[in-house]
Amino acid sequence: MGYRPMSVRSTPALILLFLSLLQPAQTVKHENFKTCSQSGFCKRNRALADRAQAAGASWAAPYELDERTLQLRDGVLTGKIWKTDAGGIELPLQVSLFESGVARVTIDEAQRRAGEITLRHDSKARKERYNEAEKWALVGGHKCQKTAAMETKEGVTTVAYGPDNYEARITHKPFSVQFLRRGEVYVVLNDRNLINVEHWRPKIEKAEGEELTEDEETYWEETFGGNTDSKPRGPESVALDITFPGYDHVYGIPEHATSLSLKETRGGEGNYNEPYRLYNSDVFEYETDSPMTLYGSIPFMQAQKKGSAVGVFWLSAAETWVDVIKTKRNPHALTTEKSSTQTHWISESGLLDVFVLPGPDVTSVYRQYGELTGFTTLPAMFSIAYHQCRWNYISQDDVQDVDRKFDKFDIPYDVIWLDIEHTDGKKYFTWDPLTFGKPESMQKTLAKRDRKLVAIVDPHIKNDGNYAVGKEMVEKGFGVKDKGGDKVYEGWCWPGSSHWVDCFNPAAVDWWKSLFKFDKYIGSTPNLWIWNDMNEPSVFNGPETTMPKDNIHHGNWEHRDVHNINGMSFHNATYEGLKVRLGNGKERRPFVLTRSFFAGSQRSAAMWTGDNQADWPHLQQAFPMLLANGIAGFPFAGADVGGFFGNPSKELLTRWYQAGAFYPFFRGHAHIDAKRREPYLVGEPYVSIIRNAIRLRYSLLPAWYTAFQRASWEGMPILRPHFVVFPDDEAGFAIDDQFFLGDTGLLAKPVVWESATKTTVYFPDDQVYYDYFDFTPYHRKGHHEVPAALEKIPLFMRGGRIIPRKDRPRRSSGLMKYDPYTLVISVSSEGTAGGVLYVDDGETYAHRSGAYIHRAFTFNHGDNALRSENLHPEPEKAAAYNKDMKSVRVERIVVVGVGKGWATKKEVVVKQGSKTWNAKIVYTEGKGGKANTAVVRDPKVSITKDWSVSFM
Ligand code: NOJ
Repeated sequence: MGYRPMSVRSTPALILLFLSLLQPAQTVKHENFKTCSQSGFCKRNRALADRAQAAGASWAAPYELDERTLQLRDGVLTGKIWKTDAGGIELPLQVSLFESGVARVTIDEAQRRAGEITLRHDSKARKERYNEAEKWALVGGHKCQKTAAMETKEGVTTVAYGPDNYEARITHKPFSVQFLRRGEVYVVLNDRNLINVEHWRPKIEKAEGEELTEDEETYWEETFGGNTDSKPRGPESVALDITFPGYDHVYGIPEHATSLSLKETRGGEGNYNEPYRLYNSDVFEYETDSPMTLYGSIPFMQAQKKGSAVGVFWLSAAETWVDVIKTKRNPHALTTEKSSTQTHWISESGLLDVFVLPGPDVTSVYRQYGELTGFTTLPAMFSIAYHQCRWNYISQDDVQDVDRKFDKFDIPYDVIWLDIEHTDGKKYFTWDPLTFGKPESMQKTLAKRDRKLVAIVDPHIKNDGNYAVGKEMVEKGFGVKDKGGDKVYEGWCWPGSSHWVDCFNPAAVDWWKSLFKFDKYIGSTPNLWIWNDMNEPSVFNGPETTMPKDNIHHGNWEHRDVHNINGMSFHNATYEGLKVRLGNGKERRPFVLTRSFFAGSQRSAAMWTGDNQADWPHLQQAFPMLLANGIAGFPFAGADVGGFFGNPSKELLTRWYQAGAFYPFFRGHAHIDAKRREPYLVGEPYVSIIRNAIRLRYSLLPAWYTAFQRASWEGMPILRPHFVVFPDDEAGFAIDDQFFLGDTGLLAKPVVWESATKTTVYFPDDQVYYDYFDFTPYHRKGHHEVPAALEKIPLFMRGGRIIPRKDRPRRSSGLMKYDPYTLVISVSSEGTAGGVLYVDDGETYAHRSGAYIHRAFTFNHGDNALRSENLHPEPEKAAAYNKDMKSVRVERIVVVGVGKGWATKKEVVVKQGSKTWNAKIVYTEGKGGKANTAVVRDPKVSITKDWSVSFM
């Protein structure tokens, strides 16, 4: 629990530390976190699944839809489900059918019954199922399909809706729903009859000597690791099984350190024995290849089969477990016998609220999910460049020294970070007077090279009468309350005794936002951005290192109801605080990094995968995790480069930088006890190799930024797994160690194995793939062995794409703003290529009013010309921005994969507007089987204009 800085270790602790250095890498303490069988509601629901399995066909769930209550109005079907085995519990059902084809199924528990329940322990907890998760996770504007029509026949109600012959077939007894598109079933709710809504009930008072049953033992109180949860409302879990018939791969439900294609969880060779757990937690020294919970959770799952993708989004903010199993048959197929995936979702409290996303392809699924929870915010350019962090840069001089050294070694970087030690005694919004006495001048110096500072601000507020922020928070009642609901909750974190700000309270959020104002956050300048850590929340002395579930938040919701949203409520508030502090009209896009997250976090933050280890398995684990985040709508994600705990070997550090250059969020970080490892410290040849990797990131920033724009407009992942790009190629469905970067056709497989000199890359089609650096072409679909010595990143350009770059090395991305572009054309086997470029000012919101450049490049062998065409639908709105960017030109065009006939070309003809001129072209024959290339020198075409370059 926690990781004490060296300075507070006692001598025996130091001896232990020394001894521990002789041991192999540490791993997680399993005993600190619950397994399913140690969590009452998970155990009960899994046991129900076991009973259902054992009973086979005779098993039926006691949930019956009352036909007489059904009503369809304006695309919303309502009715009552009766839970029949408990004397009849009324469960209101609502099925909303959106115009997009997405369906939402919500099951609540009737208020009347809730009113009958007396809470135990005089708790203030609200007697209602938590129904505000949507307020946090969803964005508005979902129109229902008003033309939906309903028909009931023989105990089945069919609702037809949507543009694509969608149907929801609702069986009444027992209740289940099949979703069909064009007659084919793609998702089934309650296929296996595992639905369970644990209704509220008065506490069973047992007669003396009478024992509680095993289930009942955890109904009213639950103890784990010495902490007792008072469970004032008793059992109230919701569970449902969801089948994806014919879909044999499922992805998503981050955050887990596991493979992208999710493994089964009910045992068997190579499978897990535990469900995937979603309960945001500070898992100290987390292990790889595990279904254990981690810091964040997004209960979104995508299923994939050849040519088809669908999704489900389980909207619960409570602790959730998900079992996954696969069967060898598709019980819902009329013709084919294909394998299926069956899942079982179990949440501790709240509504049963599930969205079914019909796809039918990945692009549609990601758009549908983005329309529900919002698209990823378009980040400021600097935030997708390289970040340098460590716990801790110890003083202003240290910061300045690092800053200078990066320049001395010609390594670009954009942001330097300050961890908790920069504060005055772990009081956030303050500076240690001895070590950071002049924070403003430090930030001004950084700004000279367009560099930024990020400082940490955590949600635990020091319990110290002299700390104004803490005092004010408590006085105003903005802290989370303990289980009684009256007293502010007190626990331990970095500052020692602490309270936690309750960002579920709108008034607390307003107050929190005000703390970022320049006259409040003294010493902060517009050049300062924020890191929100420990927001699961991490509580060193709390159950499972977090807050007790019976703590009370604003609105009298229990912490158990909102736990997984807690982190998001906090980083949202920080984001809002940063957004407004520059004043109206001068807003900059804020940068906030968060460790804890939920569905919707993508709208305001970036995330990283927390405290990984400086070892090869954690390097290997990072890509599958980042890919999972990307498909769950939160692509602005990274892992600590170098590994947080421990000291990476030089080789590991180097490989980690090569991998990190492909993390959407690219930051080096290290634990306070780790040796210094700024990239210039490792000696040659490592420094040069790392410099090249970072420079590669910088030169590809135009491509990265364009990929972020696609993510922020349409929800497309930035790192795209194979199944996203080649949804018909089943051989690629489980690949998670190589991926494509946006629409660039760049296929990367950074080396994550020790001592590698070569690796095997899978090319998913017969298109030509060129080695990015030396242009070796690969022509055949399948696995290819490729060179991968330490200095080499296996990176390939799929034939047919045009990649925008900026090749002039600079100290930071801001200094590249007006730099000229290089366009790299990787000619396809058919002789064509296309690409896209998106550019805006990279820092303000002016792009929202149209101040951006959006260009399509096409290369066609018919007339051998490269063209730049406008994609902006309202170019007049970009007039002022275009003026600013007018002088930004293309300074080089590299054509890879040209025929020998190009050897005779000496000049190209350039046309822009009414003007025509010539530019030089230099042909180079590829030696040793490498592709031929031709380079156009300075065609002087503007990035803002339509033009053509003719190679005839
Ligand atoms: C935990 C974070 O995961 C880590 O990155 C940070 O350095 C420490 N907290 C100290 O703030």
